[in-house]
Amino acid sequence: MLDRFRPRGLPNMAKNADIEDPPGSQNSEVLAKNKGSYQSWMSSLGFSRNPFSFEILPEALVGYKQQTAELEDAVLSGNKIILLLGPTGSGKTTVLKWLSKRLAGTRHVIYLPKPPLNPDNFIDILNPYFESGFFRKKRAKSIYQLPEFIAEQQKRRKMKYLLIICDEAHEASDEVLKWMRVLGDNVDGMVLILAALPRFERDLGERLETLRKRISVKIGVLSLTKEETLQLIDRRMAHAGGKNIFTQDAIDYIYEQSTGFPREILRLCDSAMRKAHESGAAAISRSIIEEPGAMQPMINASSVPEKQRHILEALVNPAPISHLADLFAGRYKSKQHALRAINNILHRLMKAGLVERNPFEKSYVYKLSSRAKTAFVTR
Ligand SMILES: Nc1ncnc2c1ncn2[C@@H]1O[C@H](COP(=O)(O)OP(=O)(O)OP(=O)(O)O)[C@@H](O)[C@H]1O
Ligand SMILES: [Mg+2]
Repeated sequence: MLDRFRPRGLPNMAKNADIEDPPGSQNSEVLAKNKGSYQSWMSSLGFSRNPFSFEILPEALVGYKQQTAELEDAVLSGNKIILLLGPTGSGKTTVLKWLSKRLAGTRHVIYLPKPPLNPDNFIDILNPYFESGFFRKKRAKSIYQLPEFIAEQQKRRKMKYLLIICDEAHEASDEVLKWMRVLGDNVDGMVLILAALPRFERDLGERLETLRKRISVKIGVLSLTKEETLQLIDRRMAHAGGKNIFTQDAIDYIYEQSTGFPREILRLCDSAMRKAHESGAAAISRSIIEEPGAMQPMINASSVPEKQRHILEALVNPAPISHLADLFAGRYKSKQHALRAINNILHRLMKAGLVERNPFEKSYVYKLSSRAKTAFVTR
């Protein structure tokens, strides 16, 4: 079923050793002369738009085969609450949009880009789905009527399956999450997908154990393989109307730097395109994009030891060490032990370039470095 998204064989300039025009060759001269604006340079290469914008393009989804297959299977087999976790920029929204399209023929899909601000908003979200046809005057008036109302409407309209997808679920209030659980419990054939940052799972354990216990499937997205990185670049360029102009060594470099993290791949490719424009090159090779002292490779959240990862996740909001010690006090014999242990972890993280600190009053406030932010955070 997922073959629809099997990447096409890569034509592929990236694998073509001849890709880079020798300096002074006819092609690069023409391009250098025609350099002009970035826009006209892209047009000269056949691109109708920026191939590496941060746009969500479910039709250009690559990789995540196991995850998309599991997600689809979990919905079709009627699991009530499914969790899709991944750091910011890993592709959660893209996967959700892909799934919405894929299931649109067999499921009523409601995609919420953000959780509602309060439970009453579910009335406005759900009523419109039942407003057409003979029973359109009937509306649920309060959240308490909703489960029964939906069940009744589904029966009347022979609509069996409802899929509610809530993106950015880590922003939902406890009340909203509780109501999601109640709806899930009371409406037959309703499946709920909650997409969120990885820390959401731990938050749920601390805040709403009843909801966490109902999660039957958990799927994580993180990064693409090297081949999928190449596919992403190829797919994006084809989607914008042009051909892949990255040489294999440039792709190797982008993979090394991004560790396959999708939004980072796009960012690096975008910057590579701009550099190629500046130098008037017709192809993008490693030497065009590589900078002396280039940033260290990205880190994968999953590759960091657990205790360090928890501290990094907590530092999504900058904090002094005393705050961290309070937060993790339960894990240590005393606050003193907590302070000492966390101090050691912070030093290790600073040495690795993942945490920075600024003096504040008589102490320090610790925060994530920009490198760590990409892997651990959010807005
Ligand atoms: N598997 C993938 N294939 C192709 N493009 C991808 C893939 N994953 C992500 N992208 C692209 O990377 C960018 C970031 O993806 P997306 O916005 O879906 O991430 P996200 O996990 O929802 O991030 P956030 O938590 O910030 O909302 C988008 O432009 C998207 O099109
Ligand atoms: Mg998103």
